[in-house]
Amino acid sequence: MCGIVGYAGNKEALAVIIDGLKKLEYRGYDSAGVAFLDDGELVVVKSAGSVAALEGAMGERSSEIKTGIGHTRWATHGRPTDENAHPHRSCCGEIALIHNGIIENYRSIRQRMLDQKTHTFSSETDTEVLAHLIEENYEGDLLKAVRRALKEVKGSYGLVAISSREPGRLVCARQDSPLVIGLGKGENLVASDIPAIIAHTRRALVLEDGEFASVTMDKVEVYDHKGLLVEKDELEITWDIEAAEKGGYDHFMLKEIMEQPAAVKETMRQRINASEGRVDLSELEFAADQIKSFEKIYIVACGTAYHAGLLGKTIIERLANLPVEVEVASEFRYREPLLNDKQLVIVISQSGETADTLAALRLAREKGVSVLAITNVVGSSVSREADRILYTWAGPEIAVASTKAYLTQLIALYLIAIYFGEARGTIEKKEMDEIVNGLAALPAKLKSILTEESVSRLRTYCEHLAKWESAFFIGRNLDYPVAMEGALKLKEISYIHAEAYAAGELKHGPLALIVEGIPVIALATQQAVLDKTLSNIQEVIARGGAVFAITQEGFNDVSKQIEAIFYLPPTDDILAPVLSAVPTQLIAYYAATARGSSVDKPRNLAKSVTVE
Ligand code: AGP
Repeated sequence: MCGIVGYAGNKEALAVIIDGLKKLEYRGYDSAGVAFLDDGELVVVKSAGSVAALEGAMGERSSEIKTGIGHTRWATHGRPTDENAHPHRSCCGEIALIHNGIIENYRSIRQRMLDQKTHTFSSETDTEVLAHLIEENYEGDLLKAVRRALKEVKGSYGLVAISSREPGRLVCARQDSPLVIGLGKGENLVASDIPAIIAHTRRALVLEDGEFASVTMDKVEVYDHKGLLVEKDELEITWDIEAAEKGGYDHFMLKEIMEQPAAVKETMRQRINASEGRVDLSELEFAADQIKSFEKIYIVACGTAYHAGLLGKTIIERLANLPVEVEVASEFRYREPLLNDKQLVIVISQSGETADTLAALRLAREKGVSVLAITNVVGSSVSREADRILYTWAGPEIAVASTKAYLTQLIALYLIAIYFGEARGTIEKKEMDEIVNGLAALPAKLKSILTEESVSRLRTYCEHLAKWESAFFIGRNLDYPVAMEGALKLKEISYIHAEAYAAGELKHGPLALIVEGIPVIALATQQAVLDKTLSNIQEVIARGGAVFAITQEGFNDVSKQIEAIFYLPPTDDILAPVLSAVPTQLIAYYAATARGSSVDKPRNLAKSVTVE
């Protein structure tokens, strides 16, 4: 997720662009840059750091500059450095572009250009190949050059390009990354999100996938993928700035819950091949025999990331037949773990800055153990100190309560489990096929449970839950870590004291706390232990507990006994935790809003715990 702004009009372009980028910094803030035409010359100014840092680097510029593009980056490929910041420009220096998304086949395009010695590269980004491709295809019309260039590209993009040969013109293209066009009087804007345009206009066009646009100060032309002019419906923007930054949702947390289908899809992009039923993690550069040599994996993390690790344990042990121990980093780092070079340590951290997790990473490295990091922030401390990195591409997560980052951590662990299983010969091709295709189907299934209709049933239960000061989450097998994560979500944003228990443990004590009406959220998605889970649910109902069950469509035994049920679309049991997390996140969210909690910034908590 990056912030993109383009301007063509009668105002000072750079002032409009910088102001727009500042309103998009929640989409990415590790580096920024602008490109503009100054007296016919294409000028690019860019630097690592915030938009404010860029402003400083720009210095005083002419007020006569009327066209330009700007970008604030959330790095995916290439660390946050001056060279990797956008805009990127062609070798001839006449074309510059900004991009939001991932070019999946950039390596092969880059290699072709290097082999042909047609271009030199100044960055390690995927985006730069686009600038050179457009240059290769430029024959006097920037829009045609962009269309031709993109025929060679696989991946996602929201991009805006300018050329010194066509002053006053912005050319845009959209595939899987948002682009809106703001329609003004004597000016038009392009942006990756609405907050950047509201100060100038409330009239907008939304580009659809496969569409292109040519934008000047007084003309906007939109073309479909065939190059035919299309008429677009105009959108009237009614949001204020704050609502627009949250995509119209009341809180960043709800926006980020709703972004989970896209986050999961992005994290799997170029890493799964559904038609071949395989996972490609060659980016980790493991030698096949190295994976075979591992005798044990430690997964080390904190909080929600730790719960992802608990699921990773079962997934990796089942698919790669490799023993896994999962520990909270604050314990691991002080208990003198027995580490050796036949082990792999996987650290999981959304921020990549959690002090305890970083310390655990350093301990493992000191002991000569290979460390693989799963993190959401390119250039974070964890990403710089691990031997290998598997990035989640969830985009910036603003809410303190982690949701989309957690789901993409699970995806990363599935990918590792399958990849290791294939390397170690412990997963049958048929099973691998089934799970890889099950993964590929998850974004659509996540979308199907994020509808108002499916959420409305859950909200009624939350009104009851919100009146209580304690609640239970129960589950067995893979449902148990999901219950733990659900309890943490509820605790941290609604302040209800929630506990998670292995469902089979209730009778060993916690059942004493089950009284009339107490909320009990029961995860029942694992066929293998469904009967046992249903018995535990019965134990709770018999003592008056108010049960809300989360189960799979088709698990009919559940419906015979409980009225408050959230049905998930059917999926392999091993993949169910990706789907069942969503209702537990929504339960926490609606219970918290019913109690008037500060959802995005809960009391006492920080987004990244960089202290011990
Ligand atoms: C998640 O909802 C919590 N805010 C918290 O537990 C978080 O997961 C934990 O602090 C770890 O953060 P990290 O993933 O950035 O290391």
